Amino acid sequence: MSATKKGIILAGGAGTRLDPLTRIACKQLLPIYDKPMIYYPLATLMLGGLRDILIISTPKDTPAIENLLSDGASLGISIRYAVQPEPKGIAQAFLIGESFLNGSGASLILGDNIFYGKLDFYREALQQTDGATVFGYHVRDPERFGVVEFDKSGKVLSLEEKPKHPKSGYAVPGLYCYDHTVVERTKAQAPSARGELEITDLNISYLREQALHVKLLGRGIAWLDTGTPASLLEAGNYIATVERQQNYKIACLEEVAFNRGFINATQFENLIGTTRNPDYRHYLESVLAESNGG
Ligand code: DAU
Repeated sequence: MSATKKGIILAGGAGTRLDPLTRIACKQLLPIYDKPMIYYPLATLMLGGLRDILIISTPKDTPAIENLLSDGASLGISIRYAVQPEPKGIAQAFLIGESFLNGSGASLILGDNIFYGKLDFYREALQQTDGATVFGYHVRDPERFGVVEFDKSGKVLSLEEKPKHPKSGYAVPGLYCYDHTVVERTKAQAPSARGELEITDLNISYLREQALHVKLLGRGIAWLDTGTPASLLEAGNYIATVERQQNYKIACLEEVAFNRGFINATQFENLIGTTRNPDYRHYLESVLAESNGG
């Protein structure tokens, strides 16, 4: 079985906790400092090497996201779109994405999950051909997330969705890697008491067969929350601080596409030519100059 996985970004949901901000645009199009939120998960998939991507959102918001990102050709990737008529659970992404996946394995990222740091952990997980890989990230408030419990050898003992009494301090971030059995498993899954196809139940189906891997993310990785007005602001401030200090952009899609070799220098120059913001354009020009040894 080939290691090639396809990428899915799930970017729907009601955005209730960010209302009235989400009356102007869906959560995943709100700004995180200098870019729309969805740039960050898209950059994560691209940095993992994925070029075949499906974005799933609501009937109302899908056209706006498509208007922003189009078919991805200028970035040397393919982006397709699909609608989730109602938010019936994160795992529903695999039923909606069945024809897109066409028997491949999948990596799913939630459109509001932002990662920053060295992404080797993700690239390694994408190489795994059998089973599923999720990550464990130490947090202050694990009861707000999926929680993974494991023993000293790293063997997963349990997974629970938003437990009242978490068995560990490790949350499962919204970035997942699955083998080609993911669609079948989701089809066999029953909705939870709240009527959703839970991502945690899907992960438990792998766990039952001892086919679930968990990799712990250490201190070098930032996983930022964007769920409330305060955490949205904090995430923006974090990105701003790092970008301004280092003079590197985070999740600059054009730069990622060029550095990963998805587009060549001529295509990159064409992109630079269409960039209207002079600061953003200067940044891209400096990336090009640096690649020429300038
Ligand atoms: O962020 C990581 C957490 O994401 C995990 O630790 C949890 O296990 C997982 O259930 C999820 O928890 P959330 O409380 O963040 O789930 P929420 O229902 O808010 O959905 C997360 C994102 O996915 C949100 O931006 C909306 C989108 N979504 C969600 C559902 C249920 C959809 O697009 N469609 C859906 O049907």
